[in-house]
Amino acid sequence: MASSLFVGLHDPHSYAKPEEARVTHLDLNLRLDFEKKVIQGRATLLFETSSRADYLTLDTRQLFIHSVRSGDDALPLPFSLSSPDDVLGQALQIRLRPGIQKVVIEYETAPDAPALQWLSAEQTAGGREPFLYTQSQAILCRSWIPLQDSPGIRFTYTARVATKPGHLALMSAQNPQKLKSDGVYEFRMDHPVPAYLMALASGRLDFGVLDHNVGVYAEPEILPRALKDFEDTPRMLRAAEKLYGPYPWGRYDILVMPPSFPFGGMENPCLTFATPTILTGDKSLTSLVAHELAHSWSGNLATNATWNDFWLNEGFTVYLERRIMEELYGSSYRDMLEVLGYEDLIQTIEALKEEGREEDTRLRLHLDNRDPDEGMNDIAYEKGYLFLRSVERLIGTQAMDKMLQEWFRRHAFKSVTTASWMEFLKEQLSLEQWVAVQPDKWILEPFLPLHAAPQSRAFQEVEEAVFQCLNDIDKFRPVWEKWNSHQRQHFLRKLSEQKPTPKDLAALDASLELNESTNSEELFIWFMMALKAGYMDILPRLDAFLSSVGRRKFVLPLVRQLACMPALRDWARKRFLERWKLRYHYVTASSCESAFSKD
Ligand code: BES
Ligand code: ZN
Repeated sequence: MASSLFVGLHDPHSYAKPEEARVTHLDLNLRLDFEKKVIQGRATLLFETSSRADYLTLDTRQLFIHSVRSGDDALPLPFSLSSPDDVLGQALQIRLRPGIQKVVIEYETAPDAPALQWLSAEQTAGGREPFLYTQSQAILCRSWIPLQDSPGIRFTYTARVATKPGHLALMSAQNPQKLKSDGVYEFRMDHPVPAYLMALASGRLDFGVLDHNVGVYAEPEILPRALKDFEDTPRMLRAAEKLYGPYPWGRYDILVMPPSFPFGGMENPCLTFATPTILTGDKSLTSLVAHELAHSWSGNLATNATWNDFWLNEGFTVYLERRIMEELYGSSYRDMLEVLGYEDLIQTIEALKEEGREEDTRLRLHLDNRDPDEGMNDIAYEKGYLFLRSVERLIGTQAMDKMLQEWFRRHAFKSVTTASWMEFLKEQLSLEQWVAVQPDKWILEPFLPLHAAPQSRAFQEVEEAVFQCLNDIDKFRPVWEKWNSHQRQHFLRKLSEQKPTPKDLAALDASLELNESTNSEELFIWFMMALKAGYMDILPRLDAFLSSVGRRKFVLPLVRQLACMPALRDWARKRFLERWKLRYHYVTASSCESAFSKD
C-alpha cells in the first residue's frame, strides 16, 4: 500500500519538466488594461538546466504568446503550444540553445482568464473605480503568468505593475502603502515561492496600521470596520511565532476583498486575501485570519509537493489555526471550532460515500487526470486536523507544538510529501505511540479510524435549548442574545436536524430577526434550513445575498439546494444566469453551472 507514496515527485497537474529545466527567478512587467480586461505582460524567467536540456517547458492557459526571446542576446527562440486541455491548459515548450539561462516572454491574458476577476466600479463598495484581483491556487496561475505552475517548484520574483492612476496595486510580496500618482508600482519577493502563491490586486484601496509589521488594506468605505474586526491579528502573529518559530515573511497584511471573492481567505505571502463576509463587528469569524496566518508556516514555508498532498497544507493549517485561537481565547473557544469542524467532516464523509467517492476520504489523494479542485473538501481540512489532534492527545500539547516547530524548521522553503511526513513522525514517536496512533490508517485508508469525538461544554446548553426554544419563544430570545456566534451556529444546525416547519421558522424569525443577521455564517445556516423547510419568506433576502456574495462555501450549497427544489429551480436558474453569476469569480460560477446542468 505504502509503495504508491514513493513514486517520486512527478506533479500530475503541471506540464513542467523540472528535471530538465527548472525556473528559479521570475521578473514580471505587467500593464493592467481595465478597458479590455486583459493584462499585457512580459515575463523574464531565469532557470537552471540539467546538462542535456533541449527545452524549457512551462504551463499556460488561454495565454496569447506574442514572442519568446533569449534573455541573453534577445534573439527569438522557437516555441510551441500543445493542444488545450480543459483543466491543465497548454504546455509552452521553448527550444533552448546551449548556454541559455534566461528567456523573455511577451504575452497577453484572455479577457476570461480563470485566475482573474475584473470588477466594474459598481461591483465595489465605493462604486467609483474598477477592481482587479487574481486567484492562483490551485492551478490557475498559468492563466495570468507563463511559468512552471507546480507547488513543488519555487522561485523568487520581482515585478513592475502599471495600473490605473488612483489605484493601489498589491502583490504577494513587499508592498507599497501609499498611492503613486503614475500608477506604477514595484514589488519584490526574496524568498522562493511556488506559483500558486503569486497574487495581484488593484483598486481604490487605503492602508491602515495594526502594529509595526501588521496592517490592513481595504476600500476606504470598509477600512475602519476591518481594522476593528482584525485588531487581534498582531496577537495572533505573536502566538504563532511562539508556537512555531519566527515569522519569516517580514510584514503580515490583510487585503479585504470585494464580496465576490470565491474563498474565505487565501494565504498569499505577506498579504492574505480575505472575504468581507467575516466582518461582523464582533470579531467572531476571525479564526479565518488565524488560518491564513498559519499558512505562513504550513503551506508557504513547508509546501505540499503536489495537490495529492493537499492535506499537508490544509489539515496542518486548521490545526495551527485552532492552537492559535486557543492561545488567544482559551480552550473552550478551540473546542467550539473543533465540534463545528467535526460536524462538517461527518457530513462530508456521508456525502462522498453517497457519491461513491470513498477513495476520496483518504488523506493522501489520487487526483491524477482530475481537477485538483476535487480534493478541496473537509477531508483535507478536518480529517487532517482530527489526525493531528489524535497525535496531540497522545503526546501532549506542548510536545506537539515542539514537534511541529521542528517540522517547519527542517522543511522551510521546501516541498513536503505525505511520505516525508510519515518518516518524520516515525522518527519523533516511540514505537508504542506510532502503533497507538495508526498513522497508516489515517493517511492511506478511507473513512475515519477509531478516534475521540470532539466535545464542547459551551454547546451543551445550546443542545438543550433546541428542544425548548419553540415552546416559549419570548423566553428564548434573551438566551440567544447572550450566546456567541459559534453557539448560535451550533444551535441553528441542531435545530435544522429537528426538521422545523415553516410556521416554526416564521416564529423564530419574528423573534430573532435571523433574516436580518449580519453574520454570514449564521445567515447561511438559516438560509439552508429555511429552504429545506420550505419557509419562503427568506427569498428576497437570499436573492440579495446571492447577488453580492460570491464565496463558494456559501453560494454553492445554496444554489445546489435551490436546483433540487422543483418549485424554485427555474426561478433560481434564471436569477443565476441573469444576475447572480455576473458577480461571481470563475471558480464559483463554474461550480454552480454544474449544479444546474445535473438533473
Ligand atoms: N488555501 C485555501 C484556499 C484554497 C484552497 C483556494 C484550494 C484554492 C484551492 C485557504 O487557506 C482556505 O483554506 N480558505 C478557507 C478558509 C478556512 C478558514 C478554512 C475558505 O476559503 O473557506
Ligand atoms: Zn487554508
